[in-house]
Amino acid sequence: MVHFDVLTLFPAMFSGPLEDSILKRARESGRLSVDLHNIRDFAMDKHHITDDAPYGGGGGMVMKVEPIFNAVETVLGGETGTPIILLSPQGCLFTQAVAWELAQYPRMMLICGRYEGVDERVRAHLATHEISIGDYVLTGGELAALVVIDAVTRLLPGVLGDPGATSEDSHACGLLEGPHYTRPPEYRGWTVPPILLSGNHAAVARWRRNQALRRTLERRPDLLAQASLSEQDRIYLAGVETGESSEED
Ligand code: ADE
Repeated sequence: MVHFDVLTLFPAMFSGPLEDSILKRARESGRLSVDLHNIRDFAMDKHHITDDAPYGGGGGMVMKVEPIFNAVETVLGGETGTPIILLSPQGCLFTQAVAWELAQYPRMMLICGRYEGVDERVRAHLATHEISIGDYVLTGGELAALVVIDAVTRLLPGVLGDPGATSEDSHACGLLEGPHYTRPPEYRGWTVPPILLSGNHAAVARWRRNQALRRTLERRPDLLAQASLSEQDRIYLAGVETGESSEED
């Protein structure tokens, strides 16, 4: 069970993703709840202004500090220990490990920045975490907040139908997943690897592990340094590098 409080200037951006598929089901079964809070509602001036020109000049606008503090303090009402997460391209990179860490909390606050950014005092004196979903710049933190909500929610018990599903994921054990196939066994002459049709579960498990190792070596060799590898894994990888292990192994 997890509850997200999201501070945003664009709450309508959340409706599609939260109202479909697994996130919809997670909400219906009480495993996920999301409250959207419009930052504008917490701006105390007559025009509900949430942004202003940057001190020192320059282009763009900066999100004001008072409405954000006001919103967080009103919503949390003195509760402590709740992560207050600012989504920004300057944050720590969001990885599967961070998703697992966040999945331990029952409640989180997500602050979606917009424009050129938020007043630095939000970062320095309010946020407990700052997260980026990747090295690119979005128009705001809303899509990033949805990524965090999605990645965390699918890790909660009962959210995915198959309880083992998340342990097989790409990144779950520091490796990419290998290939998947389903019927038919042949399509336009492209066949399914025969081992998958063999019914030999141990051989299939070893083949899957090897495919995951091969794919990670080919596409994301940086991940292998952190992965926990058995002696058998290392022998297979050495074989891939020397060309002794074939694609079918
Ligand atoms: N806001 C804008 N770009 C972002 C990113 N890459 N990650 C998180 N929040 C953002």
